[in-house]
Amino acid sequence: MLSVHAIDAAYGDSQVLFGMSFEIGAGEFVTLLGRNGMGKTTTVRAIMGILPVRAGKILFNEEPIHTLPSFRIAKAGIGLVPEGRQIFPNLTVRENLIATAAPPPAGHQGWTMDRVIDLFPALGERLTSMGNQLSGGEQQMLAIGRALMTNPRLLILDEATEGLAPMVRAEIWHCLENLKEEAQAILVIDKNVDALTRIADRHYIVEKGAVVWTGTSEELRADEGIQHQYLGV
Ligand SMILES: Nc1ncnc2c1ncn2[C@@H]1O[C@H](COP(=O)(O)OP(=O)(O)O)[C@@H](O)[C@H]1O
Ligand SMILES: [Mg+2]
Repeated sequence: MLSVHAIDAAYGDSQVLFGMSFEIGAGEFVTLLGRNGMGKTTTVRAIMGILPVRAGKILFNEEPIHTLPSFRIAKAGIGLVPEGRQIFPNLTVRENLIATAAPPPAGHQGWTMDRVIDLFPALGERLTSMGNQLSGGEQQMLAIGRALMTNPRLLILDEATEGLAPMVRAEIWHCLENLKEEAQAILVIDKNVDALTRIADRHYIVEKGAVVWTGTSEELRADEGIQHQYLGV
């Protein structure tokens, strides 16, 4: 579904990605792991067309997307829950959810406001609250709900559980497990290796702008050396 082929990307003169490569198949739950500053968010920015790709290519359903503007990439079916959430603070919860909503691909059930509220009942009680009146956990649920309302074929979550209380975090993992059961393709970037090796299929460890290790959840759990060397676990 998504194929990132040896991409380079930079901020001005400062190159951050050096031949970053990985793949996500239909219905797969894949993670990018690695310490802070290794280039995970930069990879997401390159995928979403926020940062230009200087070398290599990115294919989505076989089509090159690394030359497209961001709105076309979103429209092609990639939904992002960005680092730091970035919900609209001066829109209500309802307005946040419908602001970027898009219909599902033909023949798919698709996400609606009702389904998002079923997934996160807390949001249903806050539909008329402004984005900036929500707790951190509610904001994160809103950011996920908003991404789902675009009916993405691939959902990307960048540090979605950062700064959340353990119970809210658990709720988000639970939600992602449910999405996985519906065969939603998911890319997660997060620090919670324990939770992710329970629910994800495969992992890529990123170090200085390239993938240095890849394997299944079972392989990662079994390899304490790798976890220690690259994740500081
Ligand atoms: N907007 C930016 N301008 C310049 N350098 C940046 C910018 N954003 C990130 N960087 C640098 O790029 C590197 C990778 O950052 P990032 O992709 O955010 O890492 P990660 O998400 O893995 O923590 C870091 O050295 C960071 O300082
Ligand atoms: Mg990041």
